[in-house]
Amino acid sequence: MSGKKSFILLLITVLLVGISVVTTAADFWFVQITDAHIGVSSNDNGKSGPNGIQNAETLKLAIDKINNLKQNIKFVAMTGDLFNHGADNLPDVKLAKSIFEKLKFPLYIVPGNHDIESPNNPDTVSDREAECAKAFEENFNPIFFKINQDGVGLYFVTTGWYHLVPNIPGYDPYERLKEEFAMVPCEPKIVFQHHPPLSNSPFDSKWGQDDLLKYQRLISTNNVKAVIGGHLHRFVADWVGRVPVYVCAPTGSYVGDARQSNILLYHYTNGKLRCYDYQVKQNDN
Ligand SMILES: [Fe+2]
Repeated sequence: MSGKKSFILLLITVLLVGISVVTTAADFWFVQITDAHIGVSSNDNGKSGPNGIQNAETLKLAIDKINNLKQNIKFVAMTGDLFNHGADNLPDVKLAKSIFEKLKFPLYIVPGNHDIESPNNPDTVSDREAECAKAFEENFNPIFFKINQDGVGLYFVTTGWYHLVPNIPGYDPYERLKEEFAMVPCEPKIVFQHHPPLSNSPFDSKWGQDDLLKYQRLISTNNVKAVIGGHLHRFVADWVGRVPVYVCAPTGSYVGDARQSNILLYHYTNGKLRCYDYQVKQNDN
């Protein structure tokens, strides 16, 4: 073997060992909250009503629960539908920010359809969509961003309801993600988004097959360890290709149906992601 070939072989070995070390060395905990739907309330039967418990109050309990978890939490991911009536609803935005001020950990949020799209018009995008996305970015974080957590890429990706690409001028989550992934194909990754990319499942994102297939191909070929979503208002553990998809049940009590308020606790270790369900109103610490 020539000296040049030996050098290339050595370089590849060093790179592979390096990737393996990054994949296995990362060991961290985080929490997911989702579908808080601030702006509505529930009575004892889980029905919406003016005399019920505001979902904002339930979110406060969830924050308190997270602050008191015994694990070393690195961050909290909120996977959308923070609001019920749009991210441009300023009184609700102010209320959410005042609740999150109590959270002891970094908070990353992706908006859902109730934050940036019309909740009553699933077949067409709302004409408030761009305004809601702008209000969301002004008050929280960008609608697409990446965080590096101990060598694991965390991608927070705003997608659309019924459409992978929401109607926000100049924004295409598929192209953005493809571009980002191409720069670091071997990096272990976790993708956070509101609409889980599921098909052939009892509960799915309602995207068209073309959107689902191209997105699934992108997720399945870039060392994504898990996709984490909300929107379905129930716990789901499913797959997109060979990648697990975890969906947290809603953190809000009333979300159009009667649900317990939930959070998911995650542990990333040895290149795998495990999750544990907590009911907010149950004393199970
Ligand atoms: Fe929701």
